[in-house]
Amino acid sequence: MKPITFNNTVLRDGHQSLAATRMTTKQMLPVAGTLDGMDFGALETWGGATIDSCLRFLNENPFDRLDQLKAAAPRTPHMMLLRGQNIVQYTSFPDDVVEAFVRCSAKHGMDIFRIFDALNDPRNLRTAIRTVKALGKHAQGVICYTTSPVHTPAKLAALADELVEMECDSICIKDMAGLLTPRITYDLVKAIKSRHSFPVIVHSHDTAGLALASYLAGIDAGADAVDTSIVPFANGTGQPDTLRMQAAMAGHPRVPNYDTRTLLELRKYFEGVAKELTKFMSPANDRVDSDALSYQVPGGMLSNFRTQLVEMKMEAKFNEVMAEVPVVREALGWIPLVTPTSQIVGTQAMLNVKFGRWKNLAQASVDIALGKYGRPPGPVDPEVQALARKQSGQEPVTGRPADLLAPRMPKLREELAAKGLPVTDENAVLFAMFPRETEAFYKPKPAAAPAPAPAAPAPVAAPAALPFAPAMPGKTSRYALTINERRYEATVEILN
Ligand code: CO
Repeated sequence: MKPITFNNTVLRDGHQSLAATRMTTKQMLPVAGTLDGMDFGALETWGGATIDSCLRFLNENPFDRLDQLKAAAPRTPHMMLLRGQNIVQYTSFPDDVVEAFVRCSAKHGMDIFRIFDALNDPRNLRTAIRTVKALGKHAQGVICYTTSPVHTPAKLAALADELVEMECDSICIKDMAGLLTPRITYDLVKAIKSRHSFPVIVHSHDTAGLALASYLAGIDAGADAVDTSIVPFANGTGQPDTLRMQAAMAGHPRVPNYDTRTLLELRKYFEGVAKELTKFMSPANDRVDSDALSYQVPGGMLSNFRTQLVEMKMEAKFNEVMAEVPVVREALGWIPLVTPTSQIVGTQAMLNVKFGRWKNLAQASVDIALGKYGRPPGPVDPEVQALARKQSGQEPVTGRPADLLAPRMPKLREELAAKGLPVTDENAVLFAMFPRETEAFYKPKPAAAPAPAPAAPAPVAAPAALPFAPAMPGKTSRYALTINERRYEATVEILN
């Protein structure tokens, strides 16, 4: 029997799930070569929230990150998470922008494109998959796992047929909320494997402590790979740790053989990185959280929720809002909870509790109800759809939503030129998704914020000029003075 393959997610999902996506390229590069030498099936290094985070928080060009990681880890295929027609944003983009984004990513070395749609609407995957295939790269189609009356294992497995029809090279069962149970994983993998010979990858989160067991069941059912990470960017709301997963497979006919000593060295290195990222990490993310199972929401959404409720002074209503989540989900056609639908459902649940059910419809809820994000898995509540039509004055979309969007690349290039930004396809796609952040990235930075004080020379004019000089000949005194908000320290020796 073939040993199971592990893909490693530490450079993307690992820190996105456990450290608010704040790992910098500089923190990744020292071990990129080591990770590359481990024989992982793939290194997930890009996409998801990393592109947003590079621009918004880290002052990094995302494409430069990809270039550097590819140069440092050239052997193992690099993998990215792509939100289909949403690219790596929350709304739909026209086909030409999706195509340009995929072309740029491939040009900078991306190998495997893991492509999902929050509604599991295959029409939202088509353009990205077609472009990836045309470039000779690997298109991995995704089935987003969720639970609802309309998401039976058989129906989810049937989605695989459509992905295969679109010529995907492999299929990923993506369990963003850690809701997969061992038995369901087994049945899902078996169902897909019995229909198709394509590689099946299981991706889960250990939020509720089930991922490792679900992986084992998936492996027994014939899964070809599972995603693991490295502690401290593993377990909890992230993927199971590589060492832990391998240890759990002792005695299994498919146990892999990833080098334990190197894995321990990597862990040691990442512990150092975690120290630098402490303020973005929370012990709550490491805790096994069975709330995720009863609320059925992704772990990341739970922690965001708590913060948002505090901001809205609604923290006392936490349970009420959580109870409203399934109500909103059902009304919006049982949409899975994954970016961006998790944010949309969460926001609407808060509004329903704050103002009364459906008294205040968020624009995004209107768009979902009118099919602008794609076809929801179940029927939209007629009452909510009527409200959405009334509020927007628009009729529901029945076709593929992106068919209604005009091409934008020529316009984006003009906008870049008008702003004096370098006119490249890379900048155009970044600007389409993150206009303010992309512009800010190229703006001359304000004179580097508090630079470390230079060691020397300290412009001390004359000891006598210092108002507080206890000038005793033969003695040395230390002085500190501040010039233009910069603090200088000097030791002055009184000579006479
Ligand atoms: Co994930």
